[in-house]
Amino acid sequence: MRSSSAAGAGALVAAALFAMLSCAIGGSALADASGDPAAVKSEDGKFYDKDGNPTYKVAADGTVDWFTYSGYRRYHSDCHVCHGPDGEGSTYAPALKDSLKTMTYGDFLNVVVNGRKNVSASQESVMPGFATNPNVMCYLDDVFVYLRARANDAIPRGRPAKHEDKPPAVAKAETSCMGH
Ligand code: HEC
Repeated sequence: MRSSSAAGAGALVAAALFAMLSCAIGGSALADASGDPAAVKSEDGKFYDKDGNPTYKVAADGTVDWFTYSGYRRYHSDCHVCHGPDGEGSTYAPALKDSLKTMTYGDFLNVVVNGRKNVSASQESVMPGFATNPNVMCYLDDVFVYLRARANDAIPRGRPAKHEDKPPAVAKAETSCMGH
């Protein structure tokens, strides 16, 4: 339906703008991703730390929250070709499981949305911006949460064996973000 896909694109742009705005005005108020990752709050199956940044939740039996699992899948469809499986890095791009030990949520969003080019590297090093790719833009938090779990050794390498079901509210938000 024409109107719903326009709304979806609008939501996408709004999400990207919000991400950049919160990064600009949040500044030091946004905690370092290396801060305490403990989940203190959840909303529709998504967990947040005490600073309000998205985080993971792994149950005693190893069951991961939906976002961690979804992030695993999104990471391995759009990022691992350069950054290596499981966030382990490659000769071309850095190990994101290490990057997220110190990178803030805002900095992460900024790099993934806008990309980055390192011309001073002996070999030109380019991180493409994903602003126009809904397969990444609609799942920024998923990928962040997954990599944050990897950075804190909360989950081992490989596909999480058990995960929570997709929350109904997430399915709805996804449909509207993807524009169908
Ligand atoms: C075409 C290869 C390529 C793809 C695909 C790619 N990246 Fe990158 N990425 C890079 C390179 C190269 C760098 C290092 C850029 C630099 O040297 O400044 C980088 C840097 C980054 C950084 C900054 C790391 C740091 O330590 O500062 C983040 C975060 C990042 N990428 C996330 C992602 C995510 C998330 C995805 C998938 C949605 C992704 N990248 C897909 C090549 C890629």
